[in-house]
Amino acid sequence: MIQLLRKLTLTCFLFVLAFSLESQIITVNVDKPKYAIQPTMWGIFFEDINFAADGGIYAELVMNRSFEFRKPKMGWAVKVKDKDSSHLLIINRGIENINNPRFARIKVDDESNPVCLINSGFRGMGITKDILYHFSCIAALNTSDALKIRIELVNSKGEKTGEAVINPSGNDWKRYTADIKATQTDPKSKLNIWFEGKGLIDMDMISLFPDNTWKNRPNGLRADLVQLLADMKPGFVRFPGGCIVEGYDLNGRYQWKKTVGDPADRKTIVNRWNTEFNHRPTPDYYQSFGLGFYEYFLLAEDIGAAPLPILNCGMACQFNSAEVAPMDEIDPYVQDALDLIEFANGSAESKWGSVRAKMGHPAPFNMKFLGVGNEQWGPQYFERYLVFEKAIKAKYPEIVLVSGAGPSPDGDLFDFAVKALKDTKADIVDEHYYKPPQWFKDNAGRYDNYDRNSYKIFAGEYAAQSDYTTSPKNRNTWECALSEAAFMTGLERNSDVVVMCSYAPLFAHLEGWQWTPDLIWFDNLKSFGTANYYVQKLFSTNKGTDEIDISQDGKLLEGDDGLFGTAAIDKNKKEIILKLVNTSGKEVSRVISLLTKQKLLEGVETTVLQNDNPEAVNDIENAKVIYPVEGKLSLKGKKLSVILKPYSFSVIRVKIK
Ligand code: AHR
Repeated sequence: MIQLLRKLTLTCFLFVLAFSLESQIITVNVDKPKYAIQPTMWGIFFEDINFAADGGIYAELVMNRSFEFRKPKMGWAVKVKDKDSSHLLIINRGIENINNPRFARIKVDDESNPVCLINSGFRGMGITKDILYHFSCIAALNTSDALKIRIELVNSKGEKTGEAVINPSGNDWKRYTADIKATQTDPKSKLNIWFEGKGLIDMDMISLFPDNTWKNRPNGLRADLVQLLADMKPGFVRFPGGCIVEGYDLNGRYQWKKTVGDPADRKTIVNRWNTEFNHRPTPDYYQSFGLGFYEYFLLAEDIGAAPLPILNCGMACQFNSAEVAPMDEIDPYVQDALDLIEFANGSAESKWGSVRAKMGHPAPFNMKFLGVGNEQWGPQYFERYLVFEKAIKAKYPEIVLVSGAGPSPDGDLFDFAVKALKDTKADIVDEHYYKPPQWFKDNAGRYDNYDRNSYKIFAGEYAAQSDYTTSPKNRNTWECALSEAAFMTGLERNSDVVVMCSYAPLFAHLEGWQWTPDLIWFDNLKSFGTANYYVQKLFSTNKGTDEIDISQDGKLLEGDDGLFGTAAIDKNKKEIILKLVNTSGKEVSRVISLLTKQKLLEGVETTVLQNDNPEAVNDIENAKVIYPVEGKLSLKGKKLSVILKPYSFSVIRVKIK
């Protein structure tokens, strides 16, 4: 009897469960596309922070190649048996070459005592077995002397792993090159340059590049890092920042014209992140501008993304110096913007278009967007912005301008910006959000009620902070990434208003970072995507072309039971794409009803990111702790039963016949 009662109770329980599961229906209105999702919807934000450029994506292995750091010998050491420091002098030729005034003079006065100049790279040099390395320098020899230059790659134990010889001649500056094949892999290698014989030689622009740069380009980029970007299929690349655009002061601002042409003529300046944080000082962080505006445009083109340069608007960082150019001295800044449009889009015969053409790209880069100022605020910004807007729209009405809304997505500065931007009928407004994970979940509906007749939104910098913003303890936890996914469902659902989005910052060197969390981490040889990276990648590669309605009990999926969701169709691929984020620690079961007159095909594909531990992170040795897992689901007519695991982000793709 007791057993019978138990059986009955269990049956009733299962029935109730089945009933309640059945009643939890998510409805997707497939045949009523609401609005187009812009091709630019998901992009990337590149800033030279955390060794992202020099020491990172820019594949140059020599640090301080032209001796232009404030301490000109930084990154370099000299080895001689008799330890006489007069073997190396730094000469400053001053106004003769204002962009690259310094060079090294090496003296060898004893044939039996060769001098060695050593460069230790960016926390070492990443050297890979069997890869060819291109050494180059410009040098001028005192003609009466006979000196041989022997170049060695050495591993962290000091053992030679590659060698080449150069025999310089003549006292005029010449470029010398040599190729070295590495015999060993070591992320902490060094470059030894031996001067053998007797004499005096001047050296500058001492450089070492791997052959296997992205697309094998000279002066190129690290292929593994570009590949991670290309894999995201980003809709745009915003560059060069970030606060780097502003500079600590106006003198240190980013000036694009100084970053194009021959790399030897691009004036090295200190990187503003060098001394920004007392807890992460990076005294050897400079900008060689080897990765300059031409290379940024090329990168965007290579990975199929729209270029979005951001320019200084006559204001330095308001958190730092708060220096501004007076209004009657703003013209050169505006001219820089006009000239940049000509550099990117002008004919190869135009003044700035010809600079682009000479660098190897006669065809225009077809730039459509331009940012004026980074994270500026207050009346000073809008005063300056209006001058830019007037001049740019008068000459180039087709350019879509991106303006800033300050450092925070709320508060007085933000409210002031919103009013000013509405008044000026701004095109696209860049909002920044560095907030705790809960904020991202609470704000998935942020744009549901935004004014549809006003400007569009660029969610230009966002990242959930596991600790406080700028804390060195911030980690790329799964909880942070999942909360961003929840927020992103709201961005996508409002893609009639939100037209561009990018996580920030993008890159960080494991030994050279200043700011955390970051999307992609790397050392001198390896790189990996964080959980946040895979969230970004899944949204971007499953974007779809049109947003469609998804609801449960007539309500948006905005956090009830920890569930967030959005739906799109891809008219080209003929797919329904659902993105469902379960931020709760419990399994969530739902029946998804696809309302459509169209025929649906079997073979529903799923991609799931999941981990039971919200504190889980990927790291360089365990890069797949949170990693996309592919799967399949079966359709029952036009319904799908899904079980969303605890702490999971699922993408479901249903094919339409
Ligand atoms: O992404 C790091 C910094 O955060 C950016 O440089 C700046 O725009 C923001 O304050």
